[in-house]
Amino acid sequence: MALKKIITHPHPVLREKSIQITEFDGKLRQLAKDMAETMYDAPGVGLAGNQIGLARQIVVVDISTKENEQKYIVLINPVISEGAGCESGNEGCLSVVEYDAKVERFKRIRVQAKDVEGKELDFIAEDRFARIIQHEVDHLHGILFIDRISKLKQDIYKRKLKKILDKKK
Ligand code: NI
Repeated sequence: MALKKIITHPHPVLREKSIQITEFDGKLRQLAKDMAETMYDAPGVGLAGNQIGLARQIVVVDISTKENEQKYIVLINPVISEGAGCESGNEGCLSVVEYDAKVERFKRIRVQAKDVEGKELDFIAEDRFARIIQHEVDHLHGILFIDRISKLKQDIYKRKLKKILDKKK
């Protein structure tokens, strides 16, 4: 088990298109575990490969309930094959520091992916679960939630980010 460093915007790896995973081995299972551990440590509710500097099509998504804490699923090479409805909801991202905004997403999606053992998955996700998956699949295509907000809000965030980065210098 090992915590990974979370890469933050504007690092270029977050803009890379992730490549498909073809090897379902012990290394992949370990990577998935490390990603889940990193996500819960942050804490966050989803994490994509490029957020730890690895542009591979892997995401972990939290599916915890009150009775079942730190429960998550691993999606390999996920594809959103259908989407229906539209819902606006607040989103933040471990790679986008100190910012959150309302983003419109499908309310209900069909997801096709593989699990960490390489088994085919095909399921319907709704609401919060659907939102997290859409956010994470975006990451795999080099898209951040701040790309899906108004130009005005993007400008506000750019100024805020500049201040944050200036402080770090
Ligand atoms: Ni994110």
